[in-house]
Amino acid sequence: MKRSIWNWLFLISSFGLGFMAGVLLWQELFPEWAGVQREYNHRLAQVTGDRSKAWAFPKVQQIHLPELKRTDRCVTCHAGISNPKMADQPQPFRTHPNLGIPGFLEKHPFNEIGCTVCHHGQGSAVEKKAAHGPVPHWEEPLLAKGLIVGTCTTCHQNTDELKGAERLKQAMVLFKEKGCIGCHNLHSKGMVVGPELAETFTKSSDQFDFKYIRGEKTVSHWVEEHFRNPQAVTPGYPKLGAPETPMPNYGLSEEEIRLLTALTISFSSEEESEEHPIPARYRVAAASKPVEAVTYASKVEQGAAVFEKYGCIGCHGPQGRGGIKNKNMDMGEEVPPLTYVSDGYSKEEIKEIIREGRYPARSNREGLAPPLWMPSWKGKLSDEEIDAVAEYLFSLNPDKPKASAS
Ligand code: HEC
Ligand code: HEC
Ligand code: HEC
Ligand code: HEC
Ligand code: HEC
Repeated sequence: MKRSIWNWLFLISSFGLGFMAGVLLWQELFPEWAGVQREYNHRLAQVTGDRSKAWAFPKVQQIHLPELKRTDRCVTCHAGISNPKMADQPQPFRTHPNLGIPGFLEKHPFNEIGCTVCHHGQGSAVEKKAAHGPVPHWEEPLLAKGLIVGTCTTCHQNTDELKGAERLKQAMVLFKEKGCIGCHNLHSKGMVVGPELAETFTKSSDQFDFKYIRGEKTVSHWVEEHFRNPQAVTPGYPKLGAPETPMPNYGLSEEEIRLLTALTISFSSEEESEEHPIPARYRVAAASKPVEAVTYASKVEQGAAVFEKYGCIGCHGPQGRGGIKNKNMDMGEEVPPLTYVSDGYSKEEIKEIIREGRYPARSNREGLAPPLWMPSWKGKLSDEEIDAVAEYLFSLNPDKPKASAS
């Protein structure tokens, strides 16, 4: 009796092991990519009417790019990418879209630049999951559709007028409107209250805290979730003296989140990369435009432009109307609105505050320091700009007739 149980167990486990070995052998002999390529060959034979193509032996295909330090094997499966005859086929066999831009495919020859320079993904992999990512030890999974535009700046120095990159321009409008630059450095211009944004997508995912995020552990997922709700992603560690993030929750739509994430990717793409250099001949310099001398109808108008350019909005709100939270700051835990500064200060005093900056007092002395402070703008704004922005702030007071501003 006992013996027969052992016999059965032995038999079952032998079958189990044999089955597993069989699966491994099958995968070795008939890898995923080979199956995909066989199907491609059959489809190609159908489309071209040349039956001999149907039985071509599957082979790993690759675009080897030593100058760019990339080897992209995507074409092993995406074999029809440059073949116009495959335009009506399902993925991964379909011809590359031209994005409605005549010449897009000719200007970006895949055999010279590969795929990952625009799409990211693990070029050397021939398994779909590994090639598309996200998989362990690979930091750059395929970018989602709306984010690919973030890599155009890898080669195109200026995307303002670039066809196919309209979304970056749209995103930049949002970036200015919210005054992101008042808190963030960008290519070393801006302020240091938040991190340098050109570095975000050069960092590895280990450098981000995924404790409060579900799903993929990729930088783009982290950044999207952070835009969706900064405080949920970075609640801080108050016990260790790290406050909740002061970055405002803008209540962004899904499309706006995508836009700003693509824009953040584009900032990092602009940086020269040692890991993936771009030869000079693939770089497209910005068309040199004659510098237009901007003229303003008034000092107040010039000041409004200064207020936007340097991101004062980021902390003081649009038109200086306030509403930006600053935990544990005295006077209501908000960065002060600037609408009524002309009631409390002379113009010279305002200019002094802008030049020197100020640390706010705490409402609770024992609590954490408020995360936002008034930075010193000395050396960032010219005297003329400081003068103009002070004039602008004086003009905001609704109780005072405009004429008294000058
Ligand atoms: C093992 C085969 C295989 C390899 C290798 C492969 N892909 Fe794919 N890819 C597919 C298949 C199959 C699809 C069809 C959609 C799906 O099943 O996800 C696809 C779809 C896509 C899509 C469309 C995604 C969508 O949302 O519709 C893109 C973009 C793409 N692949 C890019 C790449 C890039 C870039 C590489 C190289 C880094 C690559 N693929 C390598 C098999 C592969
Ligand atoms: C110059 C940049 C660039 C290069 C190089 C490039 N692509 Fe694309 N690709 C794009 C853009 C942009 C899209 C359109 C995405 C969208 O619809 O928003 C796209 C779309 C695709 C799609 C279709 C996605 C869909 O859902 O319809 C596939 C598949 C794809 N690319 C694969 C590849 C492969 C494989 C290579 C290399 C042989 C490659 N691409 C090279 C920029 C590029
Ligand atoms: C690997 C470098 C590289 C990348 C990445 C790249 N391009 Fe280009 N692109 C070029 C080069 C080189 C030209 C040719 C410029 C010329 O002929 O003057 C070009 C030309 C173009 C043109 C036509 C000429 C023009 O300037 O109007 C368009 C449109 C374009 N690219 C759009 C894009 C878009 C959109 C993306 C991102 C999805 C992108 N490119 C990504 C290198 C690149
Ligand atoms: C009031 C100041 C403030 C404003 C305005 C602000 N941020 Fe932030 N942001 C921060 C701080 C502080 C952090 C770091 C703490 C955290 O994780 O939230 C941060 C983090 C980020 C990160 C993560 C960067 C990284 O490398 O870790 C991104 C991306 C970002 N902000 C983008 C933006 C964009 C885009 C805007 C404008 C729409 C913006 N921020 C407006 C203060 C601000
Ligand atoms: C990173 C956030 C931040 C940015 C960006 C910022 N400020 Fe401030 N600002 C503050 C804080 C916080 C205070 C309150 C300081 C205090 O309590 O003394 C303040 C105070 C002021 C005051 C004094 C208001 C009062 O009622 O005491 C003026 C004027 C001012 N800022 C102007 C500006 C201008 C102009 C810019 C753009 C060039 C700017 N700020 C950008 C955070 C910021």
